[in-house]
Amino acid sequence: MARLLPILFARLTIISALLLFPFLPPSFAGKNGGFVRSISRKDPGIKEEKLSTFRLYWHDVVSGRNPTSVPIIKPQKNSTTAFGMVSIIDDPITEGPELSSKLVGRAQGFYASASQEQIGLLMAMNFAFIEGKYNGSTITVLGRNTVFSKVREMPVIGGTGAFRFARGYVEARTHTVDLNTGDAIVQYTCHVIHY
Ligand SMILES: *[C@@H]1O[C@H](CO)[C@@H](O)[C@H](O)[C@H]1NC(C)=O
Ligand SMILES: *[C@@H]1O[C@H](CO)[C@@H](O)[C@H](O)[C@H]1NC(C)=O
Repeated sequence: MARLLPILFARLTIISALLLFPFLPPSFAGKNGGFVRSISRKDPGIKEEKLSTFRLYWHDVVSGRNPTSVPIIKPQKNSTTAFGMVSIIDDPITEGPELSSKLVGRAQGFYASASQEQIGLLMAMNFAFIEGKYNGSTITVLGRNTVFSKVREMPVIGGTGAFRFARGYVEARTHTVDLNTGDAIVQYTCHVIHY
C-alpha cells in the first residue's frame, strides 16, 4: 500500500493537470514575439452574439433611515441646477415597480449634476445582477440623464459574465417621484448586445 501511494499521487497530479488545462490562459506569445495575438471569433470558447432586452425598476431612496443614495459632494451654493452635486448609489433594481417586488440586482455607482442650464446628471453605474444565470454578471451604464425629460437614453458601454462584450442602450422613464422626500422610481428598458 505504501508503495502504491506515490504512484497514485503521480496519477492524480497528471489527471488534475489535464482537468485544469482548459482553464489556463492561452499563451500570449505572438508570432512576431509581441504580446498580442488574434483569435477567431469562431473559437469554441466564444459564444454566439445575441440581443437581450429587459425592463427593470430602479429605486433611488434618498430619505429615511436607510437611504441607498447618499449625496457626498454638495452643489455649488447659488446653483439652480444643483451643479456640482455628487451622490453615491447602491440602489435596488427590481422586476416590478414596487420595492417589495423581486430584487434582481443593484445599481452601484454615482450620479453627478453636470449641467448649469437644466437638471442634467452624469450617470456612472454598474447594474450588478443577482438573479438566476445572470447572478454575478454586470452591465455598465454611462450617460447623460436629464431627469425631467420623458425618456432619457444612455449608453451601455460594457459588461461582465453573461454580458461580456456588452454594448447597447437603456431608456429611463420616471415611474414615480415623491417630491416631498425626493425618492424616485425609474423604469429602465435595456437593450444589450452581448455574447
Ligand atoms: C454664483 O455666484 C458667483 C459668485 O458669487 C457668480 O459669479 C455666478 O454668476 C453665480 N451663479 C449663478 C447661477 O447665480
Ligand atoms: C448568487 O451568487 C452568490 C455567490 O456565488 C450566492 O451566494 C448567491 O446565493 C447567489 N444568489 C442567487 C439568487 O442565486
